[in-house]
Amino acid sequence: MARILITSGPTRQYLDPVRYLTNASSGRMGAALASAAINEGHEVVIVSGPVSVEYPLRAKLINVVTTDEMLEAATETFAKCDGAIGAAAPCDYMPRFIQKQKIAKTGEPLQLELVETPDIVATLGQQKRRGQWVVGFALETQDRRFRATVKLEKKLCDLIVSNGPQAIDSDQNDVELLDGAGNVIAAIHGNKEIVARKLLKKITKFIQ
Ligand code: C5P
Repeated sequence: MARILITSGPTRQYLDPVRYLTNASSGRMGAALASAAINEGHEVVIVSGPVSVEYPLRAKLINVVTTDEMLEAATETFAKCDGAIGAAAPCDYMPRFIQKQKIAKTGEPLQLELVETPDIVATLGQQKRRGQWVVGFALETQDRRFRATVKLEKKLCDLIVSNGPQAIDSDQNDVELLDGAGNVIAAIHGNKEIVARKLLKKITKFIQ
């Protein structure tokens, strides 16, 4: 049985004390993967951004808010895990400067300067020791297979789950599990719980 890290949910990047950028992510896919892994007898640690979904009580839950916090918790946890599944939708950009006070409206357009946040899955991919594995997700609106495979390579993943924008705010998902050569290991459609169960079986079988 394995110890699996699952990143889940969105992250937030604050502009000022009340406003933030985020991603549309409910955490439901992460929660479903965690339940599936626990039911298969694995130990699960979830690093999650702010969500209202309920995670299985038997998973260890580490709550974070920003992408940097998720990165820190994930890298620390991954060192003690066999594998990781990156189901989170971390916010990819953050304001270069965070204002300490609430930004007052002036009637003029507000320009924001954004810089990229660190890529958590790519960092785990670089951190991977012999025997450890990383599975990423890729949400694409076009050329799904090709783009997902490029991401797998760039982020040093072992497998990648390609899905489309219909996954957002939906209880359904339609995914393909791809290996580094772009081979389709599995094509799964159904509610996120069914998709998670089948995905996990395929992932653990492939990784063995
Ligand atoms: O590059 P893109 O965001 O499409 O990649 C999606 C994959 O990368 C997902 O597995 C997601 O959890 C992960 N990711 C990450 N850190 C980021 C952005 C994406 O771990 N900053």
